[in-house]
Amino acid sequence: MTPAGAGGGDRGPTLAVVGATGAVGTVLLSILSERKDIWGEIRLIASPRSAGRKLTVRGEEVEVVALGEAAFDGVDVALFDVPDEVSAQWAPVAAARGAVVVDNSGAFRMDPDVPLVVPEVNPHAVRNRPRSIIANPNCTTLSMIVAMGALHAEFGLGELIVSSYQAVSGSGKEGVDTLREQLGKLAGTELGTQPGDIRRAVGDLGPYPAPIALNVVPFAGSLKEDGWTSEELKVRDESRKILGLPELRVTATCVRVPVVTTHSLTVHARFENEVTVAQAHEILRAAPGVVLCDDPAAGDFPTPADVVGTDPTWVGRVRRSMDDPCALELFVCGDNLRKGAALNTAQIAELVAAESAA
Ligand SMILES: NC(=O)c1ccc[n+]([C@@H]2O[C@H](COP(=O)([O-])OP(=O)(O)OC[C@H]3O[C@@H](n4cnc5c(N)ncnc54)[C@H](OP(=O)(O)O)[C@@H]3O)[C@@H](O)[C@H]2O)c1
Repeated sequence: MTPAGAGGGDRGPTLAVVGATGAVGTVLLSILSERKDIWGEIRLIASPRSAGRKLTVRGEEVEVVALGEAAFDGVDVALFDVPDEVSAQWAPVAAARGAVVVDNSGAFRMDPDVPLVVPEVNPHAVRNRPRSIIANPNCTTLSMIVAMGALHAEFGLGELIVSSYQAVSGSGKEGVDTLREQLGKLAGTELGTQPGDIRRAVGDLGPYPAPIALNVVPFAGSLKEDGWTSEELKVRDESRKILGLPELRVTATCVRVPVVTTHSLTVHARFENEVTVAQAHEILRAAPGVVLCDDPAAGDFPTPADVVGTDPTWVGRVRRSMDDPCALELFVCGDNLRKGAALNTAQIAELVAAESAA
């Protein structure tokens, strides 16, 4: 790796954040400011619309530069937090110019030559990157996979049936703006008692097919074959790839809820052998990156309102299925912008930087 360029002042590798102005990019800049500072220059890149804007990282103002080939000169690790089509075009360019790319979009996740990495679950996969691109999983998969990986290591996973309760920041800034605007229109009214009264009052639906304020929308992502959504297929395909279980049975129903940030999932996990709640508690308590919060008698279980802004995967409501001694029911919450996106990419980048340091 090359010595630092301008801005960092020390000799750490040069990091580029592509999409620094977006929902994930913004959280990434605060995570980079909080974690151990191993980087030299941190270069901020976005669309030409944002060129010249100043953003703060590590307590210093840094000017955003427009995406282009020259923006990757001297970059050792490039974190991509941009739409799929932008990653598809530019990640190979950054890689060809010598950077290791960590991509947060869906463009490369299922490419057999691109590892899909969760540092607590499959850190070894980071080294096998023939295209010099490493993919970061989708936020819904990431919100549960650290806990599921820990249970799989002990019990052997055979099937996952999940329902998600996904926050609007999973749709980027547009999702958050839409929820806040709709809530503004409904605040102080008594709407929500007649069919269609909320739909008529909110008007603009933003990126959603139905009102998101005071509602639940059983559709996330885009429509794919046989009625499944892209988000549901991602949970299935990505869980299989990360866990190294190509035959794992996975069924997902993805639902958008009026939460700003933090995805939740109910999980029915079936294992090869009988399980007990006490064993599951022990494993989850010891698992790095997991917090067990499971005392329903005391009102202790995770909720998005309490979990938002934190790093771990929170797990509660652990029960053994009443009709199946090999299955557990759980409720998990994870901040979709932190572990679900920015934190996981920062952790992967640190693994890459550690290779060179070693
Ligand atoms: N939100 C989540 O929970 C989440 C979780 C996991 C993964 N992801 C993925 O992470 C990526 C970013 O998501 P987001 O939610 O942060 O989106 P977002 O809020 O819409 O931000 C998009 C970012 O991409 C930049 N961008 C857009 N078009 C560009 C172009 N043509 N050239 C250069 N930069 C361009 C934008 O720059 P300007 O500001 O200059 O337009 C902005 O910085 C997506 O692939 C998304 O699927 C999101």
